[in-house]
Amino acid sequence: MNKLVFATNNENKLREAREIFDGIFEVLSQHDAGVYCDPEENGSTFAENAEIKAKAVYDIVKLPVIADDSGLCIDVLDGRPGVYSARYAPDDEKCAKILAEMKDIPDDKRTAYFECAIVYIDENGVKSVSGKCMGKIGYEECGTNGFGYDPIFVYGEKTLAEMTADEKNAVSHRGNALRLMYDIITKGE
Ligand code: IMP
Repeated sequence: MNKLVFATNNENKLREAREIFDGIFEVLSQHDAGVYCDPEENGSTFAENAEIKAKAVYDIVKLPVIADDSGLCIDVLDGRPGVYSARYAPDDEKCAKILAEMKDIPDDKRTAYFECAIVYIDENGVKSVSGKCMGKIGYEECGTNGFGYDPIFVYGEKTLAEMTADEKNAVSHRGNALRLMYDIITKGE
């Protein structure tokens, strides 16, 4: 089967990509492909950062590569933390920092979304897609699954951290972007 290198070592992301690309690609992690690079993500958009990561790995492996970049955008905070989501605060303080910033914000102004850009590179060039997951910021941390901002991101009746991995993947920004990219690669859409 053709190999596809996902420019990540994150097991959750790899599992999701493997489910979606099952049957057309064997999805390798960056580690599986023997690549140890960590380029500076200094783009101003998710798509720019995903392309930086994909190109850095493609230049080494010369196999088809996908890379992602994602983050949380909160409307009332003018889209923050956005591309700074990973660096906004230490992992165990991220949710508390947002909740503190949002403490006086009423329900109807707590809208937010996760965005994920996926970039695919092969010998024919670069393809880029973006997926979103629309929701709201809750008032406290709920749930223990997932990572990052999942405990404060409410989708429907639950936070993403209260969902199983499969429930989250079915609605997540990354799942949506990966499914779009699958369609583009397999059907030329
Ligand atoms: P990256 O795309 O892996 O660099 O993620 C950037 C940051 O955005 C992560 O460190 C998380 O804080 C946040 N983030 C991205 N996707 C998710 C998600 O699905 N749930 C919760 N936080 C996320």
